Amino acid sequence: MQAALISEFERMGMERAGVHAPAYLRLRRAIRRSVESGVIEPGQALPSEREMARQLSLSRVTVRKAIAGLVEDGLLMQRHGAGTFVAERIIKPLSRLTSFTEDLRARGLNPRVVFLSREVGEVTPEEAMALNLSPGASVVRLHRLRFAGDDPLAVERTAVPHDILSDPMRVAESLYDALEAQGQRPVRALQRLRAVNLTAEPARQLKLPVGAAGLALERRAFLANGRLVEFTQSYYRGDAYDFVAELQAE
Ligand code: GLP
Repeated sequence: MQAALISEFERMGMERAGVHAPAYLRLRRAIRRSVESGVIEPGQALPSEREMARQLSLSRVTVRKAIAGLVEDGLLMQRHGAGTFVAERIIKPLSRLTSFTEDLRARGLNPRVVFLSREVGEVTPEEAMALNLSPGASVVRLHRLRFAGDDPLAVERTAVPHDILSDPMRVAESLYDALEAQGQRPVRALQRLRAVNLTAEPARQLKLPVGAAGLALERRAFLANGRLVEFTQSYYRGDAYDFVAELQAE
């Protein structure tokens, strides 16, 4: 398991999105991927902090910081005196802000993306309003078809302020991976969801007949400092995704 974790960490350092990422974020993603791919299983103990620091040539502070974030996310658990373990059940509060890539991996599916376009352009009035930008500002635009294996699941149009994401080519597959690598992953989002009958373009892209049931989603996501980082409009196949909300009395 240690060897797999080390090679995942090293691989991340070579990926486009990982080269500039701080070491603790790379380690965090390496651990997350190792858990998602089953290399480290629920209930299994992680190597000690000291051992990981030694094997990966990192400081213990860096290792601690990587682990703390995953404990907060519910992926890892710490038992006093016994060490750090992968949580028995991956606790994924339904109101948690996750990416398409993470959602699919958590279900054991293989996320894939086809870019219909990836460009920098001047903000449209709708994007300016949604992202709270001034007219004339520049945004990165991604138009992506999102697959689970061979099946198209969603088509998404995203705009991100250009000063937050300097180069659209940084998004190899996952937007949130690219943002996280720059320390700019959103921490909160507002999402609007409505049922639609798919019009010709999204229906064709999702390989469905015109008028088939679909879900239209709009997400505006925020950084910890309150700044808007993402405006995404998506069409999902109506039969492919379950959106579940947790409701509390108070
Ligand atoms: C979902 C959301 C999008 C968000 C995306 C990030 O698909 N509807 O608003 O941009 O997740 O996922 P990823 O990091 O895989 O690109």
